[in-house]
Amino acid sequence: MKKLTKGGGNWVRGDRFWDREIDLKLFIERIDEGQHISLVAQRRMGKTSLMKEAARQLEDRYTCVFVDLEQCNSAADAIATLSVKLKRYRHLWDKAKDVFANILNITKDSLEEVGYDDLYVKVRAGVTSGDWSAKGDRLFTILSEAEKPVLLLLDEVPILINRMLKGENYRITPDGKKATDEFLSWLRKNSIEHQGKVRIVLSGSIGIEPVLNQAGLSALINNFTPFELKPWDENTSVGCLRALANQYSVEFLNNAEYEMVKLLECCIPHHVQMFFDHVYTSCIRRGNMKFDASEVKDVYNNDMLSTRGHAELTHYEERLKLVLGEEVFPLALGMATEAAVTKALTPEAIKAFRDLYNFENRETLDVIKEILWVFEHDGYLKLVDDDYLFVSRLVRDWWERRHSLSYTPILNGSI
Ligand SMILES: Nc1ncnc2c1ncn2[C@@H]1O[C@H](COP(=O)(O)OP(=O)(O)OP(=O)(O)O)[C@@H](O)[C@H]1O
Ligand SMILES: [Mg+2]
Repeated sequence: MKKLTKGGGNWVRGDRFWDREIDLKLFIERIDEGQHISLVAQRRMGKTSLMKEAARQLEDRYTCVFVDLEQCNSAADAIATLSVKLKRYRHLWDKAKDVFANILNITKDSLEEVGYDDLYVKVRAGVTSGDWSAKGDRLFTILSEAEKPVLLLLDEVPILINRMLKGENYRITPDGKKATDEFLSWLRKNSIEHQGKVRIVLSGSIGIEPVLNQAGLSALINNFTPFELKPWDENTSVGCLRALANQYSVEFLNNAEYEMVKLLECCIPHHVQMFFDHVYTSCIRRGNMKFDASEVKDVYNNDMLSTRGHAELTHYEERLKLVLGEEVFPLALGMATEAAVTKALTPEAIKAFRDLYNFENRETLDVIKEILWVFEHDGYLKLVDDDYLFVSRLVRDWWERRHSLSYTPILNGSI
C-alpha cells in the first residue's frame, strides 16, 4: 500500500505529490507538442505543484526554468528575476553573464562572486540601463540556443500584471495599461519567435483572464492554450487520505476517509491535506491512532473551521481585493457573504445589491457583472440554474463562520 508524506502548505513534488497522472500526461503532451500554456484553476488546487512535478519528470529532456514573479513590480524586475535564475544552468548563465558584464562594463567574474541579492541588484541595473525589451530579447535568444529545449514556467504572472496595471487604489492607470501592454506584447513576440525551442507556461494564484479582461488586453495571451486543473475525484482523494494514513500510522475505521471526502464535496488537494493533518493531530493528542467515521464531523467543525481556516480565508479575500480593487471589494464581500449565509446568491438578491450600491463613473450593473465573472472564473461561485452557489463547501463554511455575525441577509426573510 502506498505512502505519502504530508504537504504542509507549500508546493509539493516527488514523494509528496499525489496522483494527477492524467493531468500530468496531458500537460506533458502539450509541452512536447511545443504549445504555450496558461495553467488555470481555483486557489490551492495544486498549480504550482503540477508545474514543479512536471519539471522534475522532464528534467532529462528539457532545461526547466521555474520563475516565481510574486515579488516583481515591472517588466525589468521580471527579466532580472529570470536572468538570475539562469545561474543554475552553466551554459546559459555563461552567455547571460556576457550580456550584463558588457552593459555594466564589469568583468564576468564580478557577477560570479556575489550573493543572490547583490547579483539581482547588479543584473537589474543591467536590464534597466536603456531598453529592457532588447535585453529581454537577448535573453530569449540565449534560451533558444540551449542544448535541450527550454521549459519556462512562470508562476504568479497575474500578480505582476495586476501590480503593473493598477495604481495605489487598485484602479487601472493609463501608464499601467501601457506598461502591461508592452510587457505582454514582448512576451508574446518572443513566444512566437522561439516557438519549438522555448515553451512557456503561465500560472498564478489569481486568474490572469479577469485581470487582463479589465484592461481589454486578453488578446495578448491568446496563443497560450488554457489548461484547467480540476478538484480531485472521490477515488483520488480517498487514495490520498489512505496513503497519508499509512505513512503516519493512522487507522481509519468505518470508512472515515469516505466520510471526510463526502463532507468536503469539492476536493481541493490542499483541503484534503489540511483535513488529514487535523485528524492526525487529534489522534496524536489523545494517544489513539484509530479514527472513526463518527468523529469526522467534529474535526470538521472544530478544527477545519477554526481560526486556521480563517487565515486561509483571509488569503482568499486578499486575492479578491487585489483583482477587484478597494472600492468594489465591499460589494463583492457582501455578495459572497450572502451566498454563504443564505446558501445561494439569487437574482433577487443581486438586484437588491444593485439598488444599494453606487460607483463613481461606473454603472453598478457593470460592476456586479465583473464581480460575478471573477467569482466564476477564479472558482469561488458557480451558476446553478439562476443562483450562484459556492463551489467549495469548506470555503462557504469558512466564509459563513467569519462574516455571518456581522451580516444581515440583503432580502428580508430570506433565511
Ligand atoms: N498533487 C498533489 N499531491 C499532494 N498534495 C497536493 C497536490 N497538489 C496540491 N497539494 C496540496 O495543496 C497545497 C497547495 O499546493 P500548490 O501551492 O501547488 O497550489 P496552488 O494551486 O499553486 O495554490 P495557490 O492558488 O495558492 O497558488 C500543497 O501544500 C499540498 O498540501
Ligand atoms: Mg501557486
